[in-house]
Amino acid sequence: MSHVHGLGMVHTPHDEVRLRIDGLLKDEDDWVTAMATVVCELHHAFDHFHWTGFYRTVRPEHLKVGPYQGGHGCLDIPFDQGICGAAARTATTQDVPDVHARPEHIACSSSTNSEVVVPVTSPSGHVIAVLDVDSDDPAAFDGDDVALLESICSTLGERYGEAVVARIPGLA
Ligand code: SME
Repeated sequence: MSHVHGLGMVHTPHDEVRLRIDGLLKDEDDWVTAMATVVCELHHAFDHFHWTGFYRTVRPEHLKVGPYQGGHGCLDIPFDQGICGAAARTATTQDVPDVHARPEHIACSSSTNSEVVVPVTSPSGHVIAVLDVDSDDPAAFDGDDVALLESICSTLGERYGEAVVARIPGLA
C-alpha cells in the first residue's frame, strides 16, 4: 500500500519505515537504544519478519545477541558459525532464500525457512554487529527488503561505528 501526499510523492511501506526510524533516531546517540528502536520498527512493519534482531561483536570474532523481537534467539555466535557469522566474517550481506541449503545455518527456530543478515560496519572497516531477519516463509525477502536493511545498517555504521569500536575489547 502506498500513500500519496500533497505534493504527489508516493511513499512505499519501506520508505515509511525508513522515515520513521530516521525521525526516531534523529537525536539519539545511544547505540543500544538505536538497535532496539530499529528492531521494533522493522519487526512490526512487515508480516514476513518473524524474528528480527541484532547480534553484536563483543570481542574479536565473536557475536552475542542484542535487542531482538520474536522467539528465543541463540545467545552466542562465533564468526566462523552460522549465517550471522558469515555476514560478520565477510562484511557482506547474506541473502538466504532457503536456509536448508546452507549447512552452516544455525536453527534457533525450526520454523525458519529464509533469512537475510546484513553487517553493520564502522567507517574504519570493523563489523560492529549484524542485523538478522528470519522468516518462516520460503524466499520471503525481496530486493526492497534487502535494500532497506542495507541502507539502515549503513547509516548505523556511519553514526555509531567508531564509538562502538572504541568500546569493544581487543578491536580498536
Ligand atoms: N539464523 C542465524 C542464527 C540466529 S537465529 O536464527 C536467531 C544463523 O544461522 O546465523
